[in-house]
Amino acid sequence: MQPLIVPALLASCLWTLCTGAGDWCYQSQFTCDHQCNAPEKWNHANSNCAGKLQSPINVVTRKTLKDDRLIPFQFSNYEQIFRGTIKNNGHSVQVGVPHISTISGGDLPTIYKAVQFHLHWGHNGGPGSEHTIDGEQYPMELHIVHMKHQYTDLTTALSDPEGVAVLGFFYERSKSGNRKYDPVINALRSITTTNGNTSLSSISLTQLIPSEQNLTSYYRYKGSLTTPGCTEAVIWTLFETPIPLSMDQLRVFSELKFHDGKPMVGTFRPVQPLNGRKVFRSGSVVTLASSALLIAAMATALGLSRSN
Ligand SMILES: *[C@@H]1O[C@H](CO)[C@@H](O)[C@H](O)[C@H]1NC(C)=O
Ligand SMILES: *[C@@H]1O[C@H](CO)[C@@H](O)[C@H](O)[C@H]1NC(C)=O
Ligand SMILES: [Zn+2]
Repeated sequence: MQPLIVPALLASCLWTLCTGAGDWCYQSQFTCDHQCNAPEKWNHANSNCAGKLQSPINVVTRKTLKDDRLIPFQFSNYEQIFRGTIKNNGHSVQVGVPHISTISGGDLPTIYKAVQFHLHWGHNGGPGSEHTIDGEQYPMELHIVHMKHQYTDLTTALSDPEGVAVLGFFYERSKSGNRKYDPVINALRSITTTNGNTSLSSISLTQLIPSEQNLTSYYRYKGSLTTPGCTEAVIWTLFETPIPLSMDQLRVFSELKFHDGKPMVGTFRPVQPLNGRKVFRSGSVVTLASSALLIAAMATALGLSRSN
């Protein structure tokens, strides 16, 4: 026999679990009162989210495969100054980018043009990146979303299994503020509520990312969008060099609000199973394993190897 009396709170949560499709939310937003599909239920919002090639992932550097085709990228018009609109879209902060900046090289099949960028973060500068490296979660992650140059909208690009290329950058805490981020950080104060937007005058993609010579070390794998519809059409690139931001700068992101007025924090999806996928690394990524080999080789050369 099932108990006939269910505590009211439990009943409302059960009801939530039963309400199939609907809006999706991050784990940080889920409460019994707020009925939304947290990441384990995103497949109710879109069945793609239960697919086999999902993102983000944890990169186990020891298991990455060195790939000499992962040459440096060519960034074109990345330094072009543009006027954008920065918007609180209810899940993140997103900036639309004129389709003039492009990337090629990096073993991409063709030229891709930048469409938008957005970020994922934690709580007051705590862990908040989507991808993790050897289990380490960085405070924030930038996604610059690109589509193949022949497409004019992301929806079309997402129907091509290689239609989208996302460049992912991690952030690290630095002692001093990163002045190149002032326009973005200052704008956050005017978009605290959902659909809040303001213009970003004179900004370039170059000013948001590390210098080009620091972008030769990266990881590559095939995955998906990290929000519903979770479409598996993304060539992922994760750069090793993080972007510095001060604690104060990181904290400003936590002042944004979800549409229910609660702090917009924990805007990351948990890492997803690899399901046999390979993660590649560019030649210049130095892994722990390769540095250990190097030390062993040097020790041998110096006659320091163990002799029994
Ligand atoms: C910006 O917000 C205004 C209302 O404040 C709205 O009318 C407009 O559509 C928004 N723009 C964008 C790009 O979301
Ligand atoms: C960028 O590269 C230069 C030269 O390799 C290095 O000295 C510097 O520390 C790097 N910057 C970052 C942020 O890693
Ligand atoms: Zn993202």
